[in-house]
Amino acid sequence: MFITFEGVEGSGKSTAMQAVAQVLQQRGHGVLLTREPGGSELGGVLRRILLDVATTDLAPEAELFLYLADRAQHVRQVIRPALDEDIVVLCDRYADSTVVYQGYGRGLDRTLLHQCNSLAVGGLWPDLTLLLDLEPHVGLTRALARNIEQSKAAREGRFEAESLDFHRRIRDGYLTWAALHQDRYRIIDASQPLEQVVADCVATVESLLAG
Ligand code: TYD
Repeated sequence: MFITFEGVEGSGKSTAMQAVAQVLQQRGHGVLLTREPGGSELGGVLRRILLDVATTDLAPEAELFLYLADRAQHVRQVIRPALDEDIVVLCDRYADSTVVYQGYGRGLDRTLLHQCNSLAVGGLWPDLTLLLDLEPHVGLTRALARNIEQSKAAREGRFEAESLDFHRRIRDGYLTWAALHQDRYRIIDASQPLEQVVADCVATVESLLAG
């Protein structure tokens, strides 16, 4: 089972993922928590480049290929081997982030992005994608506070520094993309109290496991 979490900055993905992982582990499942970018050794290097505010003037096409390189390595070195051992993989962002950020956000052609993603993922698409949907200004406020609290505003703040207009395109892009892929998407209202967001994620995953 391969489950991905998507959403704007600060939508609570990592907290929700950890809660879902706990429940799955209690049920006796092996669980791997991972993320993009940065889920492999190579990915760690790429993540530093991609998220550092010092990375300026990155061409959208170059940014795209760095995310794809991260994904191609992550799938082959980490995700596939785990799935082959029947481990449930929970991934913080995946191919949909590329369509949404590099497509709806940066303006690259979405058909082309889908083809690039296909090459990177080698046929591995999620069984379920949870979209934690939230007003971008609420998420951004949270994400900026988190970055300052964890002293990573410079190291990881490149996307948080984008305009509110960019983040609105991301939010709308996710909703449009989710509507096109209703078979695997479930939308979670991330403006609710965190416990409710977590409960909704857990219930959705449980119904998938039961089915
Ligand atoms: P991260 O710190 O993981 O963001 P968050 O905590 O909000 O999930 O940073 C990942 C950033 O990279 C995020 O701003 C979205 C961006 N991104 C892309 O633009 N394209 C991609 O394909 C992926 C995976 C992420």
